[in-house]
Amino acid sequence: MANLCNLDGVILPEADARIPVLDRGFLFGDSIYEVVRTWGEVPFAFPEHWARLLASAEGLRMALDLDQRTVARRIAATVAQAGHGDSYVRVVVTRGAGEAPNIDLAYATAKPCWVILVRPAPRIAGLPAKLAAVDRLRNDRRALDPATKSGNYLNSVLGLAEAKDQGATDCAMFNAQGELTEASTSNLFVRVDGVWCTPPLAAGILAGITRALLLAFLAGRGEGVREQHLRRTDLDRAEEMFLSSSLRDIAPVTHWNGRALHGGGPGPRTAVLMPAFAQHCAGLLRDRYAPAWRALVAE
Ligand SMILES: Cc1ncc(COP(=O)(O)O)c(C=O)c1O
Repeated sequence: MANLCNLDGVILPEADARIPVLDRGFLFGDSIYEVVRTWGEVPFAFPEHWARLLASAEGLRMALDLDQRTVARRIAATVAQAGHGDSYVRVVVTRGAGEAPNIDLAYATAKPCWVILVRPAPRIAGLPAKLAAVDRLRNDRRALDPATKSGNYLNSVLGLAEAKDQGATDCAMFNAQGELTEASTSNLFVRVDGVWCTPPLAAGILAGITRALLLAFLAGRGEGVREQHLRRTDLDRAEEMFLSSSLRDIAPVTHWNGRALHGGGPGPRTAVLMPAFAQHCAGLLRDRYAPAWRALVAE
């Protein structure tokens, strides 16, 4: 079972896939992407990932030339051929190879390049995280909106590196107003005064698909939950924290700036939420996402 790449509709081993040096994704980070996890061969929350991909394309003024069904069928074929079962699927769309290494969109005359990477799903769901605040600011929405999931991840790359310098496994990044945004590749939930709080989109974050599912899930359980701006002092006094992402689900924060929380384990409420949310997601897969996926890829 190999890691496979679907490059513009052709499936080949990941190690053999090649991108032209004039590709704008390579030259300028001029690309968008989504990471989707599959359960067996069924992607979880594919409609939401597709909608976000479209929004990212719009954010970058990129015209997509493939429709949802075509991309879904490419994913299905690549996942089936790879045969990993639960898979990591990364869909990358670059603006294609330009006529010259020139940033001007007037040189971007080629069609987009579609890359689908399929690997075994990493077993990082629920993995505990040690979180540290970093001085590096999250990109400002007016500069490069974090809501646009572009291939330019240097802001997160450097934020994560700075957190690791502090002995942490992930970073808490703030905006220029001192408001919490998110971690390097996850959203953040922080329990303050008995309420689960997560920064609003206005703070400058990716609109996480897991975050949205969690907001509804927590409200449905009758938990206090709201989108709210948070500052560093709120995290210093937080009762519990966790990260959320498609690959991590709920990842408990066990350390904050080098300080062990709850004896270095998950917070008690987080520990209860983790299996309950996993069960909720299994139900969504069965009742919502699997039937929709089968209908989408059916001949
Ligand atoms: C910066 C950032 N924030 C949040 C997330 C979590 O988003 P999702 O729950 O859609 O995976 C990701 C995931 O890639 C991310 O890169």
